[in-house]
Amino acid sequence: MQHQTIAVLDYGSQYSQLICRRVREANVYAELISWEQAAERLPRMNLAGIILSGGPNSVYDPDAPTLPEIVWESGVPVLGVCYGLQLLAHYGGGHVTPSQAREYGAAQIEVTAPSPLFANLPSRQQVWMSHGDRVDRLPTGFQPIAHSDNSPLAAFADEKRRIYAIQFHPEVVHTPLGSQIISNFVKGICGCAADWTAGNFILETVDRIRAQVGPDGHVVCGLSGGVDSAVAAALVHRAIGDRLTCIFVDHGLLRAGEPEQVVDTFEKHQGMRLIAVDAKEEFLSDLAGVADPEQKRKLIGARFVRTFEAEAARLAVEWGIDSPAFLAQGTLYPDVIESASNDDTKNARTIKTHHNVGGLPADMTFQLIEPLRLLFKDEVRNVGEELGLPEEIVWRHPFPGPGLAIRLLGEVSWEKLEILRKADRIFLDELRAAGFYRETSQVFCVLLPVKSVGVMGDGRTYANTIALRAVTTDDFMTADWARLPYDLLARISNRIVNEVDGVNRVVYDISSKPPATIEWE
Ligand code: XMP
Repeated sequence: MQHQTIAVLDYGSQYSQLICRRVREANVYAELISWEQAAERLPRMNLAGIILSGGPNSVYDPDAPTLPEIVWESGVPVLGVCYGLQLLAHYGGGHVTPSQAREYGAAQIEVTAPSPLFANLPSRQQVWMSHGDRVDRLPTGFQPIAHSDNSPLAAFADEKRRIYAIQFHPEVVHTPLGSQIISNFVKGICGCAADWTAGNFILETVDRIRAQVGPDGHVVCGLSGGVDSAVAAALVHRAIGDRLTCIFVDHGLLRAGEPEQVVDTFEKHQGMRLIAVDAKEEFLSDLAGVADPEQKRKLIGARFVRTFEAEAARLAVEWGIDSPAFLAQGTLYPDVIESASNDDTKNARTIKTHHNVGGLPADMTFQLIEPLRLLFKDEVRNVGEELGLPEEIVWRHPFPGPGLAIRLLGEVSWEKLEILRKADRIFLDELRAAGFYRETSQVFCVLLPVKSVGVMGDGRTYANTIALRAVTTDDFMTADWARLPYDLLARISNRIVNEVDGVNRVVYDISSKPPATIEWE
């Protein structure tokens, strides 16, 4: 079944994905599409409406993105946001005045004419503005529906053609009633049924997996213990039961108790076939003497692929087939959007090489099953809950594929890993006990290659430093350091110094991303 779809045309705003998420929060399916692909992709969709995103350009820039003809011709309702509003004005017979000054920040708008876009909303509301150019003559057929102090034409509409334009950003939290505006557009104006729910998604996806795998196919899935691979595996398991085998590679770079927890959750409680491979020695001997972060990542990625391949080949023999034909992966929608919009110039610089555990070995001949490729992380969590996965898995903070290897700076050794595991367990235990796990997005310890002098009892110490890292973020592309209470930090610091041999100093990382990254390597 193809859901009624809202196409969000991407004009490069940092908030484009957020528009898509807000539409989906109204239980309506939305896809983000580059404006340049609109003519090709829109006719293939079950299109119910179009939203034009904001963007950094002026319509007068030499290479400014334009409004594809199909937007006028499609006959479905259209909502232009910020740059989208300016496009509708510029190409619809109105006029945009270039301006050097930006209107940026909170503003009050006043609704001046009744419109279904503002149904059930107060006549005055706070919105978030971020624009340079402004519209000073309406396009043909449009009427003003709202103004602000600085923008006489803050919103206008052609109710007959059901085309709407707003100068502000309804998708950001600083427009507190913005979700209602988006919901009015997609449900009230576009007439979408609210059928994009976790329950429907599961039913449809299970059917699709069954059709793809057929009655005899076998699937393997790399399980990291993180939410994405867990939900992907649970969906495949629901579809084909024991013809799914999960492979969990213990590379020795996991946190305390993690291998046991993964086996316990998936094998015992979810009843999945699980192979846990103990490959600690291989990984650690590959890493011996290597201090460079990128080198560490590459070695771990390569060893992971080899381990996974060996297990898959063994399984094929057991099943009496040449090779398992299908590989399930927890690829998410942001990865799909990113790889679709990447070209060589945009992605020229590698900041960090990401080797997702369970990632696709380039030269393997699997057919991919990617049941989550249309979902955002929060939707994956909803599906996980609906599938009955335990809270510790569904709400787990992300953990990088290379594990603790990139959280102890410099060369990896078992002794350093053990120090890190002990400290990390204390940090997470205290964080959970204080009720801050769900308030934070990612929290961990880093072992620094720095020794310093301390005093314990009557003796001098010369020992290691642990850095605590705790961040809040929506998308992990940017992040802020978490304002954890001093008392909590004090308790964690005390316990780490007292209980972890080899550590005499604890520091708290107060860097945001950018300019820092979340991990230290
Ligand atoms: P950074 O450190 O780049 O991290 O701000 C952003 C997010 O990505 C995770 N991360 C990784 N995940 N393999 C992974 O699977 C990696 O090599 C890797 N490096 C960073 C990081 O934990 C954070 O969630």
